[in-house]
Amino acid sequence: MSNLDSIVSLCKRRGFIFPGSDIYGGFAGTWDFGPLGVMLKKNIMDTWWSYWVDKRDDIYGVDADIIMNPRTWLASGHTATFADPLIECKACHGRFRADKLAKGLNEHVTDAEFEQLHVKCPTCGMDAWGPIRMFNMMFKTHVGPVDGDESLAYLRPETAQGIFVNYKNIVDACYPDIPFGIAQQGKAFRNEISPRDFILRDRECTQMEIEYFVHPDTWETEFEELLKETDTFLEKEMGLDMNKVNHVEVAEEDRAHYSKRTVDFMFNYPNGEEELMGLAYRTDFDLRNIEHESGKSMDYRDKMTGESFVPHVIEPSVGVERLFLAVLSDAWDEEKGVLRLPENLAPYKFCVSPLLKNKPELVKKAEEVYKLLKDKYTFVTWDDSGNIGKRYKKQDEIGTPKCIVIDFDTLEDGTVTVRDRDTSEQIRVKPEDL
Ligand code: GAP
Repeated sequence: MSNLDSIVSLCKRRGFIFPGSDIYGGFAGTWDFGPLGVMLKKNIMDTWWSYWVDKRDDIYGVDADIIMNPRTWLASGHTATFADPLIECKACHGRFRADKLAKGLNEHVTDAEFEQLHVKCPTCGMDAWGPIRMFNMMFKTHVGPVDGDESLAYLRPETAQGIFVNYKNIVDACYPDIPFGIAQQGKAFRNEISPRDFILRDRECTQMEIEYFVHPDTWETEFEELLKETDTFLEKEMGLDMNKVNHVEVAEEDRAHYSKRTVDFMFNYPNGEEELMGLAYRTDFDLRNIEHESGKSMDYRDKMTGESFVPHVIEPSVGVERLFLAVLSDAWDEEKGVLRLPENLAPYKFCVSPLLKNKPELVKKAEEVYKLLKDKYTFVTWDDSGNIGKRYKKQDEIGTPKCIVIDFDTLEDGTVTVRDRDTSEQIRVKPEDL
């Protein structure tokens, strides 16, 4: 069993992640988070928010709607260019992303380049392809009770535009000094041609993005600063092994239409290296386009110098699912069956158990300890099933750092056993000292 299979199996067995609409056989590119998955995901998102927004004075939060005025996507270029090359096998009618069918191709692959490679269809093995056409990945919907072009709208493909359309509101409401950022977390939707690799390429994902507005002359320094800060976040807050993180300077022909410089943060996942997140210099591309589409000025006036200019933007952007899988796969010790999550991210901080379920005096004392810790730490679980070894095994698998056991000595001297997930060491302490 490969490590990714082992993680998918752990996720389902312990209630981290289930296939979307599982009861109906799933729905490609969708995944549902179960009780423990919600807790871990929330811890990741809250830690990100606390690190980038709450603990800083220069980054403001927004929570914009998913369905936006369609002019947003005209202005941003998504209506025209947010597309992947789609190719259909004429023999079995399977549809694929052309650039993913052979090594060395990119999104701009032409029919002639593709033909030369004599690629075989991954489903039926034939080399009988139709022409490549660009497939726009935005999900369409209709707003209000009327179908047709007039009511056409899109589910946002990135949270970034919810930030850009609020730039002027925030400048007017908060008078920020430049450089400043606007952050948003939320759902983004992409009609991926080939969703794949568990939660790495979904049709519905959760993004955490910051648009950092800077003076055009300072973008290079600010870019380096955000790159360093992102590394610190990944290492110190997410607990990632930085040997698995690789910065890749994205070549011009592979960059998104809006970017003049992009660094991809690649992560060594169990199935190989994949993009975890990106840091992009978006220039004044978005604000200029909004200015053009809305007819409203996007100028920022510097309070100190009086200079007016349209700010340039640097964007750290990460998908929660990709960060979730990086954290989970990095923490998962498959051989020992232990999930070594950093304490700040673990769903539960403590598990409390009476040594024996059928001894009322142990159960009563354990309930007192449970209440004490629950009031103090909230994220505390109770387990009195099976024997103590089985309980440890289960808590190891879900990443609980400490198991507390109430035994007969507790009744004598008030101390409890504290068993450490990573070392299996056991010590005795008074519950009040935890
Ligand atoms: N606003 C810029 C933007 O959306 P992107 O590189 O297309 O740029 C940013 O996406 C991040 O969002 C990616 O690095 C990845 O972490 C996440 N992401 C994008 N598409 C995804 C998908 N289909 N499934 C899961 N995560 C995705």
